[in-house]
Amino acid sequence: MRTAVYPGTFDPVTNGHLDIISRGLKLFDHVIVAVLVNREKHTMFTVGERMEMISEATRDVLTGRIKIISFNGLLVNYVRDSGADAILRGLRAISDFEYEFQMALMNRKLLKQVDTVFMMPDERYSYLSSKLVREVASFGGDVSVFVPDFVGKRLEAKCGGRPHV
Ligand code: PNS
Repeated sequence: MRTAVYPGTFDPVTNGHLDIISRGLKLFDHVIVAVLVNREKHTMFTVGERMEMISEATRDVLTGRIKIISFNGLLVNYVRDSGADAILRGLRAISDFEYEFQMALMNRKLLKQVDTVFMMPDERYSYLSSKLVREVASFGGDVSVFVPDFVGKRLEAKCGGRPHV
């Protein structure tokens, strides 16, 4: 049984994240989606809301192969304690590479047995990010192709038509 931890902020979950989860499930028996409880970074959605949206969005594939958890502090501590085999991350473009490269090597320095597996999302999502989705939604733009419908509604409700980036 192989398990990957897919960490992120998921503020909110996008179709790009969901694409990576389903690709990850082709390589791993279990994917643990690890939502960062980020005290310092301002997030639009609370950790509970972010987890709930991932849970709703993965309901159809929630066959016991996906677990959604929140974590604080160092990712490698959670990876070690959970006994997972790898970290899963999406890689969209060259611009992601440097940050991801640094994180992957730092995580491996901190926990030498852990490798990061990168997967490329469908090209439709190669320019998609939660930050851009929040920005577009906050100005009343259409985000329906980027996030599940119910997430679009949550964004609309949260923004209330006001810029909220
Ligand atoms: O979705 P994001 O914001 O790109 O995810 C970044 C995340 C959560 C993977 C990263 O910030 C993280 O792992 N934070 C936990 C703290 C940690 O372990 N930092 C050292 C990473 S090298």
